[in-house]
Amino acid sequence: MTDSTWPTVGVAGARGVVGGVFCSILADAGLPAACLRAFGHEEGHMLSYGGTDVAVHVLDDVNARELDVLFLAVDGPQSREIMAGPGASVQLVVDNSSAFRLADDVPLVVPEANAHAARERSGNLIANPNCTTAAAVVALAPIRDLAGLASVDLASYQAVSGAGRKGLDAFDAERGTEHRDRAEASPFHGRIADSVVPQIDVLDETGWSGEEKKIHAELRKILEMPDLDIAATTVRVPVHTGHSVALHIRTERDTTVEELEAVLRAAPGLEYRPADGSARHPMPLDVEGRDPVLVGRLRAVPGRARGFALWVSSDNLRKGAALNAIQSAVAADPERYGRLLPPPR
Ligand SMILES: NC(=O)c1ccc[n+]([C@@H]2O[C@H](COP(=O)([O-])OP(=O)(O)OC[C@H]3O[C@@H](n4cnc5c(N)ncnc54)[C@H](OP(=O)(O)O)[C@@H]3O)[C@@H](O)[C@H]2O)c1
Repeated sequence: MTDSTWPTVGVAGARGVVGGVFCSILADAGLPAACLRAFGHEEGHMLSYGGTDVAVHVLDDVNARELDVLFLAVDGPQSREIMAGPGASVQLVVDNSSAFRLADDVPLVVPEANAHAARERSGNLIANPNCTTAAAVVALAPIRDLAGLASVDLASYQAVSGAGRKGLDAFDAERGTEHRDRAEASPFHGRIADSVVPQIDVLDETGWSGEEKKIHAELRKILEMPDLDIAATTVRVPVHTGHSVALHIRTERDTTVEELEAVLRAAPGLEYRPADGSARHPMPLDVEGRDPVLVGRLRAVPGRARGFALWVSSDNLRKGAALNAIQSAVAADPERYGRLLPPPR
């Protein structure tokens, strides 16, 4: 029997990498199995949820009517298909794909920066940003609020789980093998084990990658700075989970490392690690399975007015995807969805 104080929650793509993290966060929050609906591209599969076997179904107009909220952890084309069909009738949908992120009538939300956009939405859809964007925003929003942002240059170090199941499978297959040329089979534009690959997604005719263009447009939208000067280089690294970002920024107004440190220490969703030797620098191994974005290596750039550098690490599957999506649903309606957030990890 369904506990009526819990919303009925759908996860499309529940057997995927991000879908699995959604299920694990919802189970940690205590959502009963009877209130979870797991969806995939075909019938006949089961998944384990909090010790209970849950059947995976195909989402349709009938089972969509049972849902209070639907999280989409599928690729863009599937998200578009779902929103043109069964998703249209669900009260609230949060999409992890890039399909709707830049649509004018769809809020793109990282609650630490623009929770109001989730509350003020005109339709039933909220978009979740790219995993690297989400990590960078958590560090940039408090700096924007303190001293403004004139420019942001970034280089990312993105884990293979960011490419979903196919990325993890390729990484596992390459590790420990002597074959150094698996470019044809790789989803990474070249072997990733023992290497780094300075291209994520396809390059356009000007040389910028799809991932770099997403970060450029999404940072501007979430930070509500449509003219912000941004340049991103995105790089895949042989790390299972945990994206890192080197940020080089210029603020609009004069500030100091001490002032920046103070706002970062107080900022929500962020754990500040001083570079004074008292804590480890943020690293992927320290963020996997954790909620906060870790920020460190803060320093002033010598000879550059209002120039600062910092380093960020974050779990791309939690804050970069599932956790941020659930937090956005909570920001949209805290009373209805607040129970879906487990105690912080
Ligand atoms: N990985 C990350 O770090 C990350 C971060 C932010 C955003 N995202 C985005 O999140 C989405 C999911 O990524 P992922 O990494 O979890 O990919 P994934 O591991 O490849 O999982 C995608 C899942 O989608 C399911 N699927 C396919 N067609 C479907 C349909 N019509 N209805 C329901 N489920 C369907 C498949 O499940 P079945 O085999 O059961 O059908 C598959 O397991 C993508 O849009 C991705 O860009 C990923």
